[in-house]
Amino acid sequence: MAAESRFDAKELRRVLGSFVTGVTVVTTVDAEGRAWGLTANSFSSVSLDPPLVLWSQATRAPSHSAFAAAERFAINILAEDQIELSNRFATSGIDKFSGVEIDAGTGGVPLLRGCSAWLECMVASRLPGGDHVIFVGEVQSIRRSDRRPLVFGSGQYLVADPHDLGKPPPGLGTTVQSQLHAARIGARAMARLSEEFDETMALSVWGNHGPTITAWQPSSRPVSGSLPMGLALRVTSTATGLAMAAHLPTEATRWIVDSELKVNASGANMGPVDEIELNAMLEEVRTQGIAIRAPGRFWGSDRLVNAMSVPVLDASGQTVIALTAIGEADRFPDAHSDLAQALKRTAADLSHRLGYPRASVSAEPLAAVAR
Ligand SMILES: Cc1cc2nc3c(=O)[nH]c(=O)nc-3n(C[C@H](O)[C@H](O)[C@H](O)COP(=O)(O)O)c2cc1C
Repeated sequence: MAAESRFDAKELRRVLGSFVTGVTVVTTVDAEGRAWGLTANSFSSVSLDPPLVLWSQATRAPSHSAFAAAERFAINILAEDQIELSNRFATSGIDKFSGVEIDAGTGGVPLLRGCSAWLECMVASRLPGGDHVIFVGEVQSIRRSDRRPLVFGSGQYLVADPHDLGKPPPGLGTTVQSQLHAARIGARAMARLSEEFDETMALSVWGNHGPTITAWQPSSRPVSGSLPMGLALRVTSTATGLAMAAHLPTEATRWIVDSELKVNASGANMGPVDEIELNAMLEEVRTQGIAIRAPGRFWGSDRLVNAMSVPVLDASGQTVIALTAIGEADRFPDAHSDLAQALKRTAADLSHRLGYPRASVSAEPLAAVAR
């Protein structure tokens, strides 16, 4: 009789499922020439010299007797677009190979087309493993394609994307590439911050109409039901605009800034009325690493919102994106809050990953206020 279990079986599955794997279809052929195959994520490398791999199979699987008798098997490492094949080979009692494109490998073992990689193996040993049998195979031949592998974890299919904390992709350097990379890693950082602080966040780039929101991450109570993508913001009176302009050459911003200053001076809009006032505000953003907007109306609504924005700088020290948190004015965290600190740390970290020297972005808790 089995010893009393110290943990719940479902919890054990969940814990094991948190170990993320690739997905393979293990194939073989029996003495009558009949093809067998099953989806398996228990595949693992064992040894390089000699080249050994393993996978394990449930002894109650209908195909177990075929694999137990086989001298060879092939590991087909599935590509990210082969979910249908994975599901098919995980289904008992169907004609799994019908309509599937295969090549005959050594000894007639089927190799599925379109995979990420293949290993053909001779069975080296079969080891008992509880309700499974562990097959150790000596690798006879290998092949791989340029298809990205399918990934499986926590009971669902995943895709393999480079981690945004890893190295940037090779060839980064042109402005466009670094902007795309910054937008990608910025979107992930924004999602993390929004989840941690439950604040609505926006990611902005400098577009042909100035600061432009290209992505939103709503909180559980977003400032508006419609968060407009592609919204162009004022430079001189929004936290995002100031955060961006603080680290852009004057020539890049002048065409917008000049007309905004005139509007501000006429009293038609809030914000600095001349270049001296604006430069003082931009200098403060540069010193503090964050721009804060005093209460203002959210686009197209009467709702009063506050915003804090941090510039993310590229290797040349110019703003490449801005991350902005936006919330109702009456409860929004201030410049000394954990949110403000986290925004600044995130911007410093992202800037560093884009090649900007780390120490140059301030982490002081004060802030510039756009009036
Ligand atoms: C992602 C995934 C991974 C799996 N990994 C294994 C495994 O490593 N070993 C195993 O015995 N079954 C595994 N299975 C279940 C088998 O694929 C499934 O039981 C299949 O029907 C067995 O084939 P058969 O019914 O033809 O014997 C997995 C299923 C999925 C969807």
